[in-house]
Amino acid sequence: MLYNKKAVYLGIVILVVLLTAPFWAGLFGQNYTKTGVTKPNEEACIENVEFMRAQHMRLLNEWRDEALRNENRTYIAKDGKKWEISLQNTCMRCHKNYDDFCAKCHLSNSVSPYCWTCHIIPVEGK
Ligand code: HEC
Ligand code: HEC
Ligand code: HEC
Repeated sequence: MLYNKKAVYLGIVILVVLLTAPFWAGLFGQNYTKTGVTKPNEEACIENVEFMRAQHMRLLNEWRDEALRNENRTYIAKDGKKWEISLQNTCMRCHKNYDDFCAKCHLSNSVSPYCWTCHIIPVEGK
């Protein structure tokens, strides 16, 4: 009898933990990923998704410096693949839906990159 009660309590505890797992993940993980951004159909980004999520601002800075200071227009990814250094022709060619990708996530994180006063915001062509 007592044994059964214990089992029931244990069951309830496990259930509660399972049901609140998304909450715990949000608390300890990086919240800003849960923004429901629209991802492109291509298989993968230039670098792996965790790297991109955390480092894309730094990568873009590096790209700009390479292009402007070193006149280097080729980026070699960690997997050896070569990419043209271009916000417009590389990033935005895959991430066509600016509003539903870059902007959606930035908005919910109160980030507003000033890039688009000079660079062209892509308008989605479906
Ligand atoms: C060849 C197509 C392609 C190119 C080029 C590309 N991306 Fe991506 N990107 C993707 C795909 C596909 C994903 C989703 C990958 C996944 O979920 O595994 C992604 C994911 C991301 C993410 C993470 C989204 C998230 O879920 O947190 C960021 C940020 C990002 N890209 C920014 C960029 C930037 C900035 C550039 C240019 C420097 C770029 N991407 C170039 C296809 C591309
Ligand atoms: C999954 C969420 C997410 C997506 C998708 C995303 N970003 Fe960001 N981005 C952020 C966050 C969060 C920051 C601020 C992080 C920080 O300051 O450390 C940021 C910062 C930046 C910055 C630096 C802004 C500044 O003022 O320092 C640039 C540039 C940028 N993102 C470009 C892009 C571009 C271009 C895309 C689309 C190709 C994109 N991001 C997609 C989350 C995202
Ligand atoms: C004052 C205008 C201006 C602003 C603001 C600006 N850029 Fe640029 N950017 C330029 C110019 C001009 C070039 C050189 C274009 C060329 O030589 O093809 C350039 C080149 C680049 C390049 C490399 C080449 C290319 O075509 O993509 C990257 C990457 C880049 N910028 C990213 C950014 C990002 C990210 C931001 C916002 C954080 C930003 N820029 C804000 C003017 C600007």
